[in-house]
Amino acid sequence: MTKLLLETLKGNPGERVPFWYMRQAGRYLQEYRDVRATTNSFMEFCYTPEKAAEVTLQPLRRFGMDGAILFADILVVPDALGQKVWFESGVGPRLEPITTSGQVTALDIDAFDNRAGNVYKTLEILQNALPEGVTQLGFAGAPWTVATYMVEGAGSKDHGAAKDWGYRDPAGFDLLLEKLVDATSHYLIKQIDAGADAVQIFDSWSAALPEPAFDRWVIAPTKEIIRRIRKVHSETPIIGFPRLAGCQLEKFVDQTGINGVSLDSGVPLDWAKTAIQSKVCTQGNLDPRMVVAGGEMMRAEATRILETFRDGPHVFNLGHGFVPETPVAHVAELSQLVKDFRR
Ligand code: CP3
Repeated sequence: MTKLLLETLKGNPGERVPFWYMRQAGRYLQEYRDVRATTNSFMEFCYTPEKAAEVTLQPLRRFGMDGAILFADILVVPDALGQKVWFESGVGPRLEPITTSGQVTALDIDAFDNRAGNVYKTLEILQNALPEGVTQLGFAGAPWTVATYMVEGAGSKDHGAAKDWGYRDPAGFDLLLEKLVDATSHYLIKQIDAGADAVQIFDSWSAALPEPAFDRWVIAPTKEIIRRIRKVHSETPIIGFPRLAGCQLEKFVDQTGINGVSLDSGVPLDWAKTAIQSKVCTQGNLDPRMVVAGGEMMRAEATRILETFRDGPHVFNLGHGFVPETPVAHVAELSQLVKDFRR
């Protein structure tokens, strides 16, 4: 059976628009909360293949998505490199900050698979458990976004610590990004080996970087990761998500050689149809807050997205992840609307 999402990413759209949602597994689902409650630490939860595979499948049972996104987190990479990572309830991710080249050198790529091996195991379980026709998606955070957490030691609003390091000591900061390029390329190649049909690279914090920084910290590392993956898996589609990159999206597509771009909700549709979809597959971009609200606003905007991109390859998705307060009934209604739409 052909995989509609995979084919669409390769530039061969079918008669229906495939869909999946960022954070489709998560706290808005009672069944997720039930499994989540059986493990204290979030990282340990990500490293328990049976549980991670189960929560990957949960949203598909309810809503019939065309894609199953591996359940893990972008902070697996620093954790598997030996940086201490933990999640504090009510606060979010915490890490022991890395601020010197010496600490970068100490990050141990040789031991990476001791921890990350659990994630490949999740994908192996899913290979046998996935419904027919469903595309398996792997993912990783992009080096810049992962670096913001590694340097800050937490999530931040302005990524001040990472920027300060990068602007004061560009060569030193490059060493951290290079280490992340090594780890992330390896990690994504192993995910594809273990069954991922396509992979997405999340650059959630690529917003508001001045052009030279965007080129050096977003485009260059992403381009190098793509080059390394293609050497081994030349046919596997790669989706980029340089969130809130605005008009820098166009050169991101031209210079990285990415196969698809996930659009945040602020990207104007007609512009993206001309500037992006003419070159690669587009994905997105319903505001997740519209699914919280539901109703006519949600239906109208979902329809506008489907209609704008109907003539080329497009994957229906959100502009960012579902929030925990999203009503399940709204997700069900949205999914039916997308499934019923014909190109
Ligand atoms: O369904 C899926 O999308 C697959 C799994 C997935 C998670 N995180 C699970 C998760 C994916 C693809 C991610 C990516 C991720 N993680 C990103 C990039 C995408 C984005 O949202 O911009 C980022 C920045 C992270 C880092 C991260 N992980 C944060 C900031 C948080 C805390 C915020 C929150 O919602 O509490 C997490 C935790 C996390 N990752 C949860 C889930 C389901 C919630 C934790 C819980 O269940 O207790």
